[in-house]
Amino acid sequence: MDIKTYKPNLTDIVAMQQLVKTEVEKGIILLRTSDEMATTIRSYTAIEVDGVLAGFCALHIHSVNLAEIRSLVVSDKFRGLGLGKRLVKECLDEGKHLHVKEVLSLTYQKDFFEKLGFNVISKESIPEHKIWADCIRCKHFPVCDEVALLYKLEN
Ligand SMILES: CC(C)(COP(=O)(O)OP(=O)(O)OC[C@H]1O[C@@H](n2cnc3c(N)ncnc32)[C@H](O)[C@@H]1OP(=O)(O)O)[C@@H](O)C(=O)NCCC(=O)NCCS
Repeated sequence: MDIKTYKPNLTDIVAMQQLVKTEVEKGIILLRTSDEMATTIRSYTAIEVDGVLAGFCALHIHSVNLAEIRSLVVSDKFRGLGLGKRLVKECLDEGKHLHVKEVLSLTYQKDFFEKLGFNVISKESIPEHKIWADCIRCKHFPVCDEVALLYKLEN
């Protein structure tokens, strides 16, 4: 199995939207329009298996201190192979390279992120602009049972 991560470009957006469609419909991942993905394309990392797109995630920078892992998804047929872990690790490396201090995740996958060294934090400590910009667009807002987790990067 040939597994590679790469920085996707604008021509990858259609396939990325197709891959994440089921999770968006379930309300697990927030819908991002093509234009929104285009604007933030540099924040994404994708992973392929034998040349087939198998997953992706984004590292969104909120401030000089804080970034967030967004839209993490691995295609059903490639789960359990360590691809999700590899994507998150790439984002953490990218954050470290950029001198980000903390990386946030808002997720239903608490155990997955804890395994990677993230710690649960109270949702009250999440920056307010994040709530208003993103959460308000979510199917589950305002009754949200996502968990907030934080990873502290050592720079
Ligand atoms: C969460 C998700 C990205 C995991 O991807 P994956 O490639 O299957 O995960 P990995 O194979 O890299 O798993 C890494 C480790 O986490 C564990 N793990 C995977 N999914 C897990 C889960 N749901 N709960 C607890 N542990 C989990 C694995 O057993 C593995 O443990 P190990 O390192 O001890 O062997 C994938 O299930 C997915 O796309 N889910 C739907 C979308 C979603 O929920 N995204 C998160 C939103 S932020």
